[in-house]
Amino acid sequence: MTATATNGNGKAHGSKWHDRYPHLDRGPVRAEVFTSEEQFELEREHIFKKVWLNVGRVEQLPNPGDYFVKDIDMCQTSILVVRGKDGQINAFHNMCSHRGNKIAWDNQGRCQMFTCKFHGWSYGLDGSLRHVPDEENFFDLKKNTLGMTPVACDIWQGFIFIHVDPNPQESLPEYLGELGTSLDGYPFDTISATCASWTTEVKANWKAVKDAFQEIYHVGFLHRRSAPDSFTSKENPYSHALDFRLFARHGSASVFGNQYLTPSPVATQAFKHSSFLIRKNFDMDALPAGVNPLRHEEWTLDLNVIFPCFFVDVSEGSYFTHNFWPIAVDRTIWHSTQYFPKAKTAGQRFAQEYGHVLFRDIILEDGRTLEETQTMLSSGAKKEFHLQDEEILVRHSHDVVNKMINGQSVSIDVTTNGKEAAHA
Ligand code: FES
Repeated sequence: MTATATNGNGKAHGSKWHDRYPHLDRGPVRAEVFTSEEQFELEREHIFKKVWLNVGRVEQLPNPGDYFVKDIDMCQTSILVVRGKDGQINAFHNMCSHRGNKIAWDNQGRCQMFTCKFHGWSYGLDGSLRHVPDEENFFDLKKNTLGMTPVACDIWQGFIFIHVDPNPQESLPEYLGELGTSLDGYPFDTISATCASWTTEVKANWKAVKDAFQEIYHVGFLHRRSAPDSFTSKENPYSHALDFRLFARHGSASVFGNQYLTPSPVATQAFKHSSFLIRKNFDMDALPAGVNPLRHEEWTLDLNVIFPCFFVDVSEGSYFTHNFWPIAVDRTIWHSTQYFPKAKTAGQRFAQEYGHVLFRDIILEDGRTLEETQTMLSSGAKKEFHLQDEEILVRHSHDVVNKMINGQSVSIDVTTNGKEAAHA
């Protein structure tokens, strides 16, 4: 374990978490990783085409024939996700076998069959080619080999994932590893009854956008108006995390919540019925063992970063997600969704609406920094950036990116309180 340095006051320099994960260096991050076209292309080939990617939730496809389309620029394809007549959800490249047209043009819908609008070739919900107009005029057409091209598709906790390799080296459970199993028992199905989503295009590199959501250092400053003292206290002025857990590619943090906060009058009314993020007396028994695993009383949520671009941040009674989809080295589609269980009373409905508005205000503040940051990254005025101990998820994420684009192993040995543990 690395020795802990001290500053002039005899206080420990930030090394608590980096001591736990000594494979990580403590040096600066190169600014070029946010602006380099070459780096972006390496990320496309060595990361996004090699991992499982979340594209939606099962609630989007309640009935056979329901479908949605997810364009994934980083994989240079459009994916058609559809629930078949057998109830199974499958995913295909959204591409006609005749001359390549996109089969589905709408973002979502319901149908019995997909018909290409170019020359009318038709496909079943299972992707098979069913009908070719003027078929007799083709030459030895083998229709049974000309279905839509499948991609790997699997579901974890109601979240639909795809992998553009139809035969990925890792299954989805293997890819999610210990972070995935830590959320076993969380009631995603009931909490996903109500949701509100926001989508925007941000003129910033996907890692700069993602990094803004995987550290808590900023909240006492950037969110001082929307959530004053919610994540800070006199004893914890910089919102130090309660715990960090790093996995081979993913990461997690248990976030501090000020249990002695005096809410605003309207928040006080809302919190009588339900809450979003800040509440006293969480029902810890309602949480699976992997959520707030330390059972810390000053806890408010677990921030879960599923590499490369999916966040599932869970609290008791609500959760929210972020998806960050790169579309260029300096442009990213940011999609956030907040989930609540079905409200049983008008008071709960009011509280959820308050939570939606609060979440909207918080993420608008987050969004304000992103393009300003990218503009200055593009200036080249600074060549590197400095991360502190509480920004360990940012450092870990950049370490994984670097290893993957350089073809290195991402498995890590973790030293936790002197006990060796291998995280999947
Ligand atoms: Fe689809 Fe011709 S491209 S039918």
